[in-house]
Amino acid sequence: MSRLMFTKLTLTDFRNYDFAELVLDGRSVVLTGPNGAGKTNVLEAISMLSPGRGLRGARLDELTRRPDVGGGAGDDVAQTPPSAKRTPIRRHWAVSSVLARGDDEVRIGTGLDPDHAGTKRIVRIDGFAAPGPGALAEYFSVVWLTPALDRLFAEGASQRRRFLDRLVLGTHPGHSAVAASFEKAMRERQRLLEEAAHGTRADEAWLAALEAQMAEAGVALAAARLQFVQRLETEIARGAGSAFPQAGLLLTGPLEELLRSGKSALDAEDWYHTELMRRRGADGAAGRALVGPNRSDLEVFFGPSGRPAKDCSTGEQKALLIGIVLANARLKRSLAGGAPPVLLLDEIAAHLDEGRREALFDELYSLGAQAFMTGTDRHLFKAFGERAQYVEIANGRVTSGASD
Ligand SMILES: Nc1ncnc2c1ncn2[C@@H]1O[C@H](COP(=O)(O)OP(=O)(O)O)[C@@H](O)[C@H]1O
Ligand SMILES: [Mg+2]
Repeated sequence: MSRLMFTKLTLTDFRNYDFAELVLDGRSVVLTGPNGAGKTNVLEAISMLSPGRGLRGARLDELTRRPDVGGGAGDDVAQTPPSAKRTPIRRHWAVSSVLARGDDEVRIGTGLDPDHAGTKRIVRIDGFAAPGPGALAEYFSVVWLTPALDRLFAEGASQRRRFLDRLVLGTHPGHSAVAASFEKAMRERQRLLEEAAHGTRADEAWLAALEAQMAEAGVALAAARLQFVQRLETEIARGAGSAFPQAGLLLTGPLEELLRSGKSALDAEDWYHTELMRRRGADGAAGRALVGPNRSDLEVFFGPSGRPAKDCSTGEQKALLIGIVLANARLKRSLAGGAPPVLLLDEIAAHLDEGRREALFDELYSLGAQAFMTGTDRHLFKAFGERAQYVEIANGRVTSGASD
């Protein structure tokens, strides 16, 4: 295993940055600065170097810098003479990076596609256009914890599925493509079922083909999640004695149930395919597929007591999540050719007491993970000491640290 790390990050017209460059030396990175400076935006930029919509789940066109928003540098509108026609300057955000692993170096970049402004992004790997964002997962994985995830256990299952799928992607790089294939077939089937409900005769063969696709992709999704959760549980058990509580995990859903009971993937596919055909009427009326991996949930328990995570204190929930993310990083590192994921830990120090903060920094360091952490207060990271690189941010500008 050789360490995987960002050595350079460039943001162009991204959120409140017109242009920023961070030159990194491979240590973990602590980003500090006042509220609204652009710390989370840097983490979001890094998260766009993985498949999906990043850590805020934003629409692609929301990421483009808008000169009229916030206190970022530059104000293009004011520079336009009042008499001149105010044609807005068309801009497209871009994030590029240099990633090093041992002696190898790879350049990975992404940005809004000017030909499909607002709806698609381009991905470039070493200068060549990649077929899509899915290709990014082949190089490295990114996992994040943000304050929004503090409500993960209180909210609906869809957030937890998204969180889980992000982790699964680290060990199953094809996971996002399978998920997209499932969702596409599911949406199309739903459209046909709703048309049928309004009297249009559904194309029987097309419907059956979509259900076959859902069954195949759906079982692959469930199987990947299940395999990952089982590996993670083993890793969590191995980490007993850590400063972070051990999480108990349970993946729920009928497909997961079948696979866990030892049924083959083919049997599970047959079962699901039949179920989809049987449920056309009900799914059409409900406006969604009522059975499938789109309804699975990851139940989490506070290890020592078996208490559901949602009944734990905010601090305990945060500690549980960190425990899961650290176990995932150890798991990733232990796999053949594996490197720990890049960790984006937004406002991470806020809910942690001093002991846990120190334990977190120690674990991150011994994992060899490159973590990007944010906070308003630099002294919260004191225990990290020389093991991290410190970057100061103000008003959409890197003011010190990155290239020292
Ligand atoms: N598309 C955008 N264009 C310009 N500024 C933006 C855009 N989106 C968000 N911002 C600004 O970015 C700032 C928030 O940055 P953020 O990274 O969340 O700050 P923090 O340092 O507190 O984490 C706000 O001032 C917000 O108005
Ligand atoms: Mg922030």
